Formats: sequence, structure tokens, C-alpha cells
Amino acid sequence: MIVALLNQKGGVGKTTLALHLAGRWAREGKRTIVIDADPQGSALDWSEQRAREGLPRLFGVIGLPRDTLHREAPEIARDADHVVIDGPPRVAALMRSALLAADVALVPAQPSPFDGWASSEMLRLIDEARIFRPELLARFVLNRCATGTVIARETAQALASHEPPVLASRIGQRVIFADAARSGRLVSETVNGAVAAREIAALAAELERLA
Ligand SMILES: Nc1ncnc2c1ncn2[C@@H]1O[C@H](COP(=O)(O)OP(=O)(O)OP(=O)(O)O)[C@@H](O)[C@H]1O
Ligand SMILES: [Mg+2]
Repeated sequence: MIVALLNQKGGVGKTTLALHLAGRWAREGKRTIVIDADPQGSALDWSEQRAREGLPRLFGVIGLPRDTLHREAPEIARDADHVVIDGPPRVAALMRSALLAADVALVPAQPSPFDGWASSEMLRLIDEARIFRPELLARFVLNRCATGTVIARETAQALASHEPPVLASRIGQRVIFADAARSGRLVSETVNGAVAAREIAALAAELERLA
């Protein structure tokens, strides 16, 4: 399965979730590759930091911030069970290419009633990609959710009928994600990361059921 983490909004958790999904699948023994399609190269930075810390390699990270991504990705996917694309903010050409490569477009969003979860351009790009690839699945995943609060019933109902639909798995607002990243780690490799790691495992399992 090729999953692309995409949202033109910056800082919504594309890189964090891409690395953690890949880490989870690698841990389950699946051959997993991350394609860093963001010119900022944050996933590559993480991987480099990991090497500096002397931590073992969990999965390969390939830098490919090119709009030829859709041509390269299937080839890369041939040798892998899962490919996770860490998408760029803003650059429409790269997003378009990632959407043509992906089986699932996963759009991380911070649940806020005050602004849309994705730019209208992002949603338009998904619609456009579906002209060429009607089988493309698109889902929102709520990231940085306030922990310990139950989503109100009206909100839950609104989410269920949302388009693209919202996955049931949610990721809480947990500083451990930022702390772990600084030292090239995943939350599952930290002392206090068990709850966060469980959320990631649930998300990874839900995505596999989807595909
Ligand atoms: N669930 C979370 N809880 C707490 N912090 C988080 C969570 N998810 C992401 N963060 C933090 O938010 C910041 C932005 O996350 P991240 O880099 O993954 O977003 P991004 O969408 O890849 O950003 P960009 O658009 O710049 O590529 C990072 O410092 C990250 O550690
Ligand atoms: Mg990023």
C-alpha cells in the first residue's frame, strides 16, 4: 500500500505520522520505505539524527521531492509492503504527483471548529487526481486532539458524514511526539511513549483494513 500524508497546511503532523506509521509497520516485520517528498527534508533529517544517535535503522528514507514521484513510487513499492510518502506543504505540483502515486491520501488535521481542516485547493487536488485514479482513497486523520475529552455526539455525527471521511483512530496532543523526534526516535522508543504508540498502532491497523 502507498499512503501519502498530505495537507497544504504546515505543521499538521504529516512528517510525524509518516515516520510513526512506517515505524509501526517495520516493527510488525513489514518491508517499509518512507519517501520524503518535502523539499524541507524533515524525514531525512530525522533519519540522519537517528544515525548520529547510533540508533538502529528501522526503515529506509528516500528523498524524492520531484513531481516525477508518481513514476518512481510504483517501482519503489515493488520491493516493499508499504510505502509512506511524507508530503510537502504548499507545493501543488509535488502534491499532485504524490496523489497520483498513492492508494490512500491521508490528510492530517488538527480538530478545530474555526478553520477548515484542509485548504479548498487540497480538496480540489484530490478531486482532480480521482479523474485519473478513481480508486484513490482519501481520509482525514485527526491529530493533536485534546486528550481526555470526549468528542460531542453532534461532532461525531458531523465527522461521520464528512467528505473525505474521517478515520476513527485519533492521535492525541502529546509532547512525547516532539521530544522523541528531537533525538531521532519514535514514541515507541521512549520511556513514556506507550499511550502514543498505541494510538499509532491503531491508526496503522485501521489503514491496513482500509486498503
Ligand atoms: N500529536 C502530536 N502531539 C504533539 N505534538 C505534535 C503532534 N504531532 C505533531 N506534533 C509536533 O508538531 C510539529 C509539526 O509536526 P510535523 O513536522 O509532523 O508537521 P508537518 O505537517 O510535517 O509540517 P510541515 O508542513 O512543516 O512539513 C512538530 O514539532 C511535531 O513534533
Ligand atoms: Mg513535514
